[in-house]
Amino acid sequence: MLKKSLAVIALLAGVSGGVAKAETISAFCAPTEFELCTNVAKAWHEKTGNEVKINKMPAQLDDAIPIYQQLLASKSADVDVLFLDVIWLGMFKNNLLDLTTMIPKEDQDKHFASTLGAAKLDGKLVAMPAYMDVGLMFYRKDLLEKYGKQPPKTWEELAATAKEIQDKERDAGNKGMWGYVWQAKSYEGLTCDAIELIASNGGGTIISNDGKVTINNPQAVQALDRAKGWIGTITPEGVLGYDEEASRAIFEAGNAVFHRNWPYVWGTSHAAGSAIVDKVGVMPLPVGKAGEKSSGCLGPMYYGVSKFSTKQKVAADFVDFITGTDMQKMRAVQSAFNPSIQSLYNDPEVLAKIPFLKDNQQAFADSAVRPSGYTGTSYNRVSQAFYRAVHDILSGSANTESTLKSLASRLEKLKESR
Ligand code: GLC
Repeated sequence: MLKKSLAVIALLAGVSGGVAKAETISAFCAPTEFELCTNVAKAWHEKTGNEVKINKMPAQLDDAIPIYQQLLASKSADVDVLFLDVIWLGMFKNNLLDLTTMIPKEDQDKHFASTLGAAKLDGKLVAMPAYMDVGLMFYRKDLLEKYGKQPPKTWEELAATAKEIQDKERDAGNKGMWGYVWQAKSYEGLTCDAIELIASNGGGTIISNDGKVTINNPQAVQALDRAKGWIGTITPEGVLGYDEEASRAIFEAGNAVFHRNWPYVWGTSHAAGSAIVDKVGVMPLPVGKAGEKSSGCLGPMYYGVSKFSTKQKVAADFVDFITGTDMQKMRAVQSAFNPSIQSLYNDPEVLAKIPFLKDNQQAFADSAVRPSGYTGTSYNRVSQAFYRAVHDILSGSANTESTLKSLASRLEKLKESR
């Protein structure tokens, strides 16, 4: 009885005490995570009484950059919470609220130190990690077994296995079968796919951490020429227009042996609508040659608060909530998103959903990091120059060596405008 009346008093104090008037904030979420964000918003509403209006970002995340630029340049108070790719942190750091004292220190300390550290710029904590992303290789476990093949260690082995299984499956009547689907549309995703091929072949990450333009080298030429050779043989020509979702559709329809994508594909390939439930294996990306590291592109995602928000405290509370342990666990269990919170890597429910999660820590450690740290605000132009050049090479319209040579001199100029 006493317990009940205390609860009533607490409830009344919350409603009428003027302590916490319910607020509505507005947040951006990726379209692939719309349902998850809606769940988070509901849970936060139940906890705090506050509401979140969710704005769906464009299907291709890079298209959000000009929208953010416009909102922030006009100091708009319309949006409070921004969903941020790791490569955007340097770009938007001056318009993001410093969360150092807004998010409890013990909540900050739960995240992988390097991932949190990537959001500490100019002495400010500009965003909080929401999940880890790293390029991974998904494959048809059932088909590799059927043809007595091991998961490949090198790109050459992958191409050979892909070709053999593709051809045999076609002969057996599956005419739509392809060996390998990935992303080669002219967009940020191609920067990721290409950097993985080049870095794992000993060809570096476009611009080194200390600012040296490294892209013009024989290992990079070899890696891109190898990938060009896949198109039309083990990879459909349509790959030149595929992003993550387009390539995933082919794999999950049962029409590809290998598929490069982010960890979320573990969730989607086991969900209703997938033709390959329980037929999927996953491994780190192959290497270009022995001795090199598997170099999955590192892509953690973050939430930050706009400096122009008029509800900064409430918005920071939402960021703390959406990036916190409970919501990261919900994302992991429901959709296989890899947490940025260390303790969840030992959580039995999370491990039951993502059995390979522990191995992914090695993939994070070996990952290729895009040069956004050094290039800062000019990253987007650097990446655009890179993926356009790679697209020209892959589509057969440009000579690899001379394209990388002229790209390097263009990057020398671009990197100065950071
Ligand atoms: C994923 C990654 C992100 C990357 C993007 C490329 O969303 O998390 O870092 O830029 O894919 O398409």
